[in-house]
Amino acid sequence: MKDAQPKAIFLKDYQAPDYWIDTTDLTFDLHEDHALVTSVLGVRRNDDRSDGSSEMPNLSLVGIDLELVSVAVDGQELPADTYVASADQLILPVKSQAFDLTVVTRIRPQENTSLEGLYKSNGMFCTQCEAEGFRKITYYLDRPDVMSKFTTKVTADKGRYPVLLSNGNDIVRGDLDDNRHFVTWEDPFKKPSYLFALVAGDLEVVDDTFTTMTGREVKLRIFTETHNIHKCDHAMVSLKKSMKWDEEVYGREYDLDIFMIVAVDHFNMGAMENKGLNIFNSSCVLASSDTASDASYQRVEAIVAHEYFHNWSGNRVTCRDWFQLSLKEGFTVFRDAEFSADMNSRGVKRIEDATMMKTAQFAEDAGPMAHPIRPQSFIEISNFYTLTIYEKGCEVVRMIQTIVGKDNFRKGSDLYFDRHDGEAATCEDFVKAMEDASGVDLTQFRNWYNQAGTPVLNVTDSFDQASGKYSLTIAQSCPATPGQDTKLPFHIPVAIALLDAEGNNLPLNSAGDTEQVLHLKEAEETFVFEGLSAKPLPSLLRQFSAPVKVKYDYSRDDLVFLLKHDSDSFNRWDAGQRLATEVIQEMVSAQAEGKSVAPDSKLIAAMGAVIADQQLDMAVKARMLVLPTEASLSEQAEEIQPLLIAEARSQVKQAIAAAHKDALLALYNALEQQGDYQPVASDIAERSLRNTCLAYLTELDEADMLNLAASQYDQAANMTDRNAALVAAINASHQDKAVTDRLLGDFLNRFKDDAVVMDGWFAIQASSSVLGTLSHVKALMEHDSFDKTSPNKLRSLIGGFAAGNMKRFHEGNGEGYEFLADMIIILDKQNPQVAARLMTPLTRWKKYEPEVRERMKKALERIKAVPDLSTDIFEVVTKSL
Ligand code: TRP
Ligand code: ZN
Repeated sequence: MKDAQPKAIFLKDYQAPDYWIDTTDLTFDLHEDHALVTSVLGVRRNDDRSDGSSEMPNLSLVGIDLELVSVAVDGQELPADTYVASADQLILPVKSQAFDLTVVTRIRPQENTSLEGLYKSNGMFCTQCEAEGFRKITYYLDRPDVMSKFTTKVTADKGRYPVLLSNGNDIVRGDLDDNRHFVTWEDPFKKPSYLFALVAGDLEVVDDTFTTMTGREVKLRIFTETHNIHKCDHAMVSLKKSMKWDEEVYGREYDLDIFMIVAVDHFNMGAMENKGLNIFNSSCVLASSDTASDASYQRVEAIVAHEYFHNWSGNRVTCRDWFQLSLKEGFTVFRDAEFSADMNSRGVKRIEDATMMKTAQFAEDAGPMAHPIRPQSFIEISNFYTLTIYEKGCEVVRMIQTIVGKDNFRKGSDLYFDRHDGEAATCEDFVKAMEDASGVDLTQFRNWYNQAGTPVLNVTDSFDQASGKYSLTIAQSCPATPGQDTKLPFHIPVAIALLDAEGNNLPLNSAGDTEQVLHLKEAEETFVFEGLSAKPLPSLLRQFSAPVKVKYDYSRDDLVFLLKHDSDSFNRWDAGQRLATEVIQEMVSAQAEGKSVAPDSKLIAAMGAVIADQQLDMAVKARMLVLPTEASLSEQAEEIQPLLIAEARSQVKQAIAAAHKDALLALYNALEQQGDYQPVASDIAERSLRNTCLAYLTELDEADMLNLAASQYDQAANMTDRNAALVAAINASHQDKAVTDRLLGDFLNRFKDDAVVMDGWFAIQASSSVLGTLSHVKALMEHDSFDKTSPNKLRSLIGGFAAGNMKRFHEGNGEGYEFLADMIIILDKQNPQVAARLMTPLTRWKKYEPEVRERMKKALERIKAVPDLSTDIFEVVTKSL
């Protein structure tokens, strides 16, 4: 029986398990309409939970949708009246301290559309067990503090499934009757069930090796369907770079003799760090110059690294319970971010990550699902794989590094890995290791783990000419979030510099340092700098040193000045974003009152100066030219007026294009590339700047500009330029249906057999302010290349429209919301994890202007009224309303 009302579980209720499972021996018999799973568990009483009496608690295992075939204890089958079994639990009386439990279950992977547990993707069997998918395979203590040594025997038809994989090393293989075969895998490392994996399919492999720092040779293997095998080189290079980097930067070596990656098309997330057998969404492995853009190349590199790094931060040291999720995810995102910064452009990486924080994470922190990086309760853990856990969790780890210093941080990570190797640890263990290794007191810093919401810093300053003293006063506050009305002050590292009238950095102390990290701990503090001859201009929160909002009363001239002179490239970018945001907000407010204001010429001129700047790093320059996104503008709005925001932003873009057409065109032409495609930082920077120019030029309502995009498309020698040209053409101010139809048709023709590229084809159209109308999106759902069971396709089309197309999603009388609600209601039965994620745009309804708000709410209420909602949707919808 399913609970009528799903219940929340609380961190404060954590208790260690009554039993351990020392060994887990699994046998999978895979068939075309079912799979038989035999599990032999070496169960042992947890002595710490014993009160000394001989009476032992029942063993209570969880399952989901399981068909129980048989149960035996120490080889003796149990009579049915001695235990309690249902589709979602198995409860047995226990008679001895340690025993072998054998459970046989029958499951139906072919019918599993949730993509959790064992399922089929394009004819291959694969698994996804994090967070609680293992219980869809067999009854188990499916919690990460129960760590077990796994052995897995897989048997299947040899013709259909020549490749049989699981975690660890393959120890035996052989043929069976009926053209079947088997392989047995043994994983010598204890692990929780969420890291279990199995793959069976007809796969091609790319082989390589890596020699570790102690001279051990590790086999590296990437598996894909045959037609994709030539797209694995970049992932392999990225893997080897990651292995080397983790040795050099963290002193961490890989531990098994083999490391495998498998690409699958149907996958709920990006990738999964299963021990020795990572399973990836195809879109995060495959890359070739004609099918993958620079952004995809970088994403593949980052995700391969992320999953590889989990081998230490996640697998060797895992999480005690799911409230500690950020222990592995925040730390691993920090590790992959530093890796990407070292491999590519550090400055651009910081801008990208801060953009993600300032738009999407800040919005999450201000929404109904806001939670601390260590949540205190949840209903469905799948809903907590969030930007807060991952990206804010990363920023919290980064702040620890800033506070204790890089050397101490490394000492702290060594101590953490040494202390907790082979254990299930907590966020507290991590902070304690950093504290013990550095001697720095992180007591107050721990508030970052307990409190949700984005802190706001109100900064004011004053200068006393007579004494030459400059005072910077910083007041911190944090808005209320669900369940947390008041907050304690955080320990916030605020990196600053002071600029003189020429734009030079002033010395901040007797040592002559020109940048300093202020440690803000009180609700309000004043920091005094001496020996100044005039009032400086502060450069605040350099490199985004903390995940907070800074309010300081910069004039527009100040922002133009910082945009030009700040020696911190991040803050130069940030100054431009602030200026543009202010200008757009001013236009929106005027529009709302029926007035119209032209874009401030200061912004237009400042953008012209950026275009003309020859000194600027090209990658940073390209970033600086991109206006704040609609999502960012919405996050910063008091009340969101979606159509006015979209309109004002597009007017500013057009004004910049009109004012600087010649310069943009000259830069565009100067940046034409010769030679073979290479996904290296310098080339990527040039392509990105050139394509940014193209995006501006097509803002002009001129046939020539549309033709420029079309001819770039026709001549494109790589996906970066082809993609950018297509996006520019279909969003161009000057439209010509014959041209867009031709380009979209050509793209379809070239790539219709490539599922990953086709994801992009759907996304580009769904998120286009020109093409992406509701009726167009609905028509695309019926397209031959669309697949309603593919999370990637659903995210591209429905997500591209609802989360990526402000103008079209919000236009009309709420038809967009009703469409999204319809989709969520259907998808909830099919794949609740994906449905819950797609619902996000509706959950932010309270921030919109009144009429919009009411329509969004209505759509949510309709979802809420549906009987038998999944726990995923139930949690999101009840918390949102
Ligand atoms: N642990 C995975 C990561 O590296 C996240 C993940 C992959 C996941 N697949 C999932 C989480 C399915 C929940 C459900 O970040
Ligand atoms: Zn991860």
